[in-house]
Amino acid sequence: MHITTKIIAPDASGIAEAAALLRAGRLVAFPTETVYGLGGDALSHAAVAKIFVAKGRPASDPLIIHLADASELPRVVASVPPAALRLGAALWPGPLTLILPRGPAVPLAVTAGGERVAVRVPSHPVAQALIAAAGTPVAAPSANRFGHTSPTDASHVLADLDGLIDAVVDGGPTPIGVESTVLDLTGPIPTLLRPGGISLEALRELLGEVALGGRAAEGAGLVSPGLLTRHYAPRSAMVLVIGPAHAARVWLRERAARELAAGQRVGLLVPDEDAASLADLDADIEALGPTDEPGTIARRLYAALRALDARQPTLILARDLGETGIARAIRDRLTRAASGHVVYVE
Ligand code: TXA
Ligand code: MG
Repeated sequence: MHITTKIIAPDASGIAEAAALLRAGRLVAFPTETVYGLGGDALSHAAVAKIFVAKGRPASDPLIIHLADASELPRVVASVPPAALRLGAALWPGPLTLILPRGPAVPLAVTAGGERVAVRVPSHPVAQALIAAAGTPVAAPSANRFGHTSPTDASHVLADLDGLIDAVVDGGPTPIGVESTVLDLTGPIPTLLRPGGISLEALRELLGEVALGGRAAEGAGLVSPGLLTRHYAPRSAMVLVIGPAHAARVWLRERAARELAAGQRVGLLVPDEDAASLADLDADIEALGPTDEPGTIARRLYAALRALDARQPTLILARDLGETGIARAIRDRLTRAASGHVVYVE
């Protein structure tokens, strides 16, 4: 089915128009502080079903519900544990998603049939205004076709979903650039399921013990390539190198030179320092930002991956930045983009 996707400005009349579409059960992509979300009325079975169709997403993959304010939690959850109150007070609005017991009003399609629901309160002013104006909780996965790289500006949304959704509110590039942190509060110990915009260190400071579960527990090197869900994936093959900066740079140079000598086209997805030291190679280089600014690197990551992929190199080589703060999320996304092809150097 083809529909015309309207581009809506993030001003008062645009927000009112987008909110009316959501209330009518239509799909509207909108900016959050992390990435663009593909929004639909979370309490409408029909709207939720449309989200899965537009994304090409399997019904087994549950959606995050977005609220304008933490005070709305009782609309979508069955109970609010003390840890959720503490985290919400400290970190919402912001890039933290909590897994909580599903409230009865939430269609099972949102939770992929389960009794746990993912909820967050985004801080982006456009998301805030839109959800408040819609007056309903908004289910929103990242606004990309399933398995593709998440969109960090409106043009990325249109590249994947033009003709499949009713509108996109164009709020410019998103400030964080990687998705929210997902934390499960339904078990005895809070468990990190996806590293993201809120660091593990910040969660541990507030909660004490936080376990690593789901994909967050997969030490990148312990996972056999191929077992990982292919996600955030470029069309090109990709390899991620992990290790001290100097050794990683030596590895990047050797591997790139070898591929280039064999007539391959090589893309490099690296921090500024590496880009400068590898500039003499005949490779396509995307410089992500200085190594001491991992926030900048996170913000540019997906756009750079898209730009590199558009030039269709045979192979993309990327460099890891460690696992402190947002670098943990960068490692997770790069490992997935590389389908688990990780090389360790010392
Ligand atoms: O930053 C974000 O979280 C963005 C913006 C739009 O808010 N949204 C986003 O949604 O990344 P999505 O659907 O692309 O990723 C949601 C993640 C998936 O890994 C999903 O499996 C997990 O959250 N998730 C959702 N509901 C869950 C549940 N009930 N239990 C466990 N994991 C869940
Ligand atoms: Mg996604």
